[in-house]
Amino acid sequence: MERAQLLLLVHATTCFTIKMAAHSAVLSMSKIINPFWGGRLGNTVKVFGTTLTSHRNKTLLTGENIPPPAKYGGRHTVTLIPGDGIGPELLNHVREVFRFSCVPVDFEVVNVNSALETDDDMNNAITAIRRNGIALKGNIETKHTMAPSVKSRNNLLRTSLDLYANVMHCQSLPGVQTRHKNIDIMIIRENTEGEYSSLEHESVSGVVESLKIITRNNSLRIADYAFKLAREKGRRRVTAVHKANIMKLGDGLFLQCCREVASGYPDITFDSMIVDNTTMQLVSKPHQFDVMVMPNLYGNVVSNVCAGLVGGPGLVPGANYGNAYAVFETATRNTGKSIAGKNIANPTAMLLASCMMLDHLKLYDHATMIRHAVLKTMNETRLHTADIGGQGTTSEVVQTIMRIIQSGGQLTTEL
Ligand SMILES: *[C@@H]1O[C@H](CO)[C@@H](O)[C@H](O)[C@H]1NC(C)=O
Ligand SMILES: *[C@@H]1O[C@H](CO)[C@@H](O)[C@H](O)[C@H]1NC(C)=O
Ligand SMILES: *[C@@H]1O[C@H](CO)[C@@H](O)[C@H](O)[C@H]1NC(C)=O
Ligand SMILES: *[C@@H]1O[C@H](CO)[C@@H](O)[C@H](O)[C@H]1NC(C)=O
Repeated sequence: MERAQLLLLVHATTCFTIKMAAHSAVLSMSKIINPFWGGRLGNTVKVFGTTLTSHRNKTLLTGENIPPPAKYGGRHTVTLIPGDGIGPELLNHVREVFRFSCVPVDFEVVNVNSALETDDDMNNAITAIRRNGIALKGNIETKHTMAPSVKSRNNLLRTSLDLYANVMHCQSLPGVQTRHKNIDIMIIRENTEGEYSSLEHESVSGVVESLKIITRNNSLRIADYAFKLAREKGRRRVTAVHKANIMKLGDGLFLQCCREVASGYPDITFDSMIVDNTTMQLVSKPHQFDVMVMPNLYGNVVSNVCAGLVGGPGLVPGANYGNAYAVFETATRNTGKSIAGKNIANPTAMLLASCMMLDHLKLYDHATMIRHAVLKTMNETRLHTADIGGQGTTSEVVQTIMRIIQSGGQLTTEL
């Protein structure tokens, strides 16, 4: 017993150096050591070694790779791109909540001016993300007057950093009235190719060709990402969404890659569905879906349908992962220009995105504390903002969230 306790202490110290919270380290340690309790020191250490290794492997999946995110003097540095529309005000609220909650994160703010034609701002932003490894961003407006070959800045950011997987978790929130209850769908959207190649040309006047790019390597890694995530989250089914009946070669290849990857995950059921049927099934019987994986444009459409199912764009966070970098934002990529500066935007999606970011930085306790306060606040109908049928203001919502954080999770009665 004495020996085991000593072991625990040693491991707890080790865990500190790998930046886990002390109590969760001890908790997970006792789970691991338990079967070996009784002095089989060598084995235990080996077991712990394996656990550590697989832990590292697991985080590879969520895009945390070499180099690790910037961290100086115990604090993380995150690139902050305010973007356009409601982006700047929502991100100010995130900073306010982080400061209030003593989150050990410093932001390096990089402004991208979408009114300028040059790419200098964008290059600065990309360099900053390469340096810090991680970013939180508002959406950057895309000017439709630019040449067709010009990629949107948001798209440029995703392709430059090779953020190939977009992940959106669509979950019903307490207190938000929607037609369907208890929705819990994960959407993995291919994020760097497909219809977003910006390769278009007018071959003859009045005839336009747009290229959709599907590669085997990329389809394999996105499918693998989806299955790995499904397994990590204890999910049972992965559905590939496609239009291979029409795009036989392109979508056919995507589907084939999903099938190949599925054969390596016998514990997870694989099926596929044509995209038009998918949107119909989603609005009529959404509970049949668990994890979904799909090419870029279908992902855009389907994730917007799903956001609508749980209450709209103001509620759902999104994340973009690559092997080296991760960028967090709201799931539906609107700027919300029409409601900017009016103190009526729903801060929920951006705050939940910041919680995903904290999870990625392994600041689990801070993530849980803020997420809990956000959900508790959402459950208060009188605080709902206009997008979900209420008259609450952004600052009222944020004040309440901070009050709940201050009171250690309880909603104080007077407001
Ligand atoms: C990750 O897991 C694979 C097996 O899935 C293993 O072969 C590899 O050694 C692991 N990598 C690290 C860095 O632990
Ligand atoms: C696909 O990946 C394989 C193995 O990683 C590599 O050898 C090959 O060059 C890649 N193909 C393309 C078209 O990039
Ligand atoms: C649509 O999907 C459902 C499964 O949810 C399936 O039963 C049905 O046959 C599909 N319809 C078509 C036209 O593929
Ligand atoms: C939401 O509020 C209702 C009553 O207003 C309460 O019964 C329920 O437990 C709350 N749910 C959460 C998750 O706080």
